[in-house]
Amino acid sequence: MSEASSLFDVMYNCRAMRRLDTREVPESDLLKLVDAANQAASGGNQQRGRWIIVRDAAQKKAIADLNHQVSHDFVQARIDRGEELPHHDQAARARMLDAVLYLAEHMHSYPALIVACLDFDERPANLDASGGSIWPGVQNLLLAARALGLGAVPTSYAINRRDEFERILDLPESMAAYALIPIGYPLGNFGPVTRRPVEEIVRFDRWS
Ligand SMILES: Cc1cc2nc3c(=O)[nH]c(=O)nc-3n(C[C@H](O)[C@H](O)[C@H](O)COP(=O)(O)O)c2cc1C
Repeated sequence: MSEASSLFDVMYNCRAMRRLDTREVPESDLLKLVDAANQAASGGNQQRGRWIIVRDAAQKKAIADLNHQVSHDFVQARIDRGEELPHHDQAARARMLDAVLYLAEHMHSYPALIVACLDFDERPANLDASGGSIWPGVQNLLLAARALGLGAVPTSYAINRRDEFERILDLPESMAAYALIPIGYPLGNFGPVTRRPVEEIVRFDRWS
């Protein structure tokens, strides 16, 4: 397989993996993920991405509890009302939401939780505006995990409780968290992602 086709393969099969084994992941592989993340672009090449690999049981539990508190009722309500989207029918949606609940119940037992952060000289009032300098790194990390046979999923629920989340991690004032990524060997199978067809989401030259 050529390098290009294997890269496309990874991109097209990089599903969100929420059911993970508790088996330990070698530290060298965790560092490889962060090293891959760190190769991504950042605005003005400022390289403000910082990564925390959480393996301590008490730290994982504190983070998992926060994720559970934010996600559980919200997700259960979506399951109860049979949520569906134009591109995601009710059965597929229910399977996904079920996996989100599974993640909420098991996150504390996963081998590592990786937190993607930015370190600012002075933390801006609008953190979202800087997200473009960390999300490419998050995507690199997800692709690297897929290439190493590791499951991963980018999450944000726990970070919605930003003050508590950042206190657990002892972040200095200058830093902000952007994504929480559980990592582990997948219990299920990797498989292709399902996305809207390209004809539906692209136009040439102008939109209408
Ligand atoms: C910004 C962002 C926030 C997300 N937050 C969560 C989250 O809090 N919990 C969760 O289980 N998944 C979360 N996800 C994962 C998405 O639900 C997932 O990527 C999407 O459903 C596509 O899944 P698929 O690649 O398996 O098709 C998040 C993804 C992104 C990009």
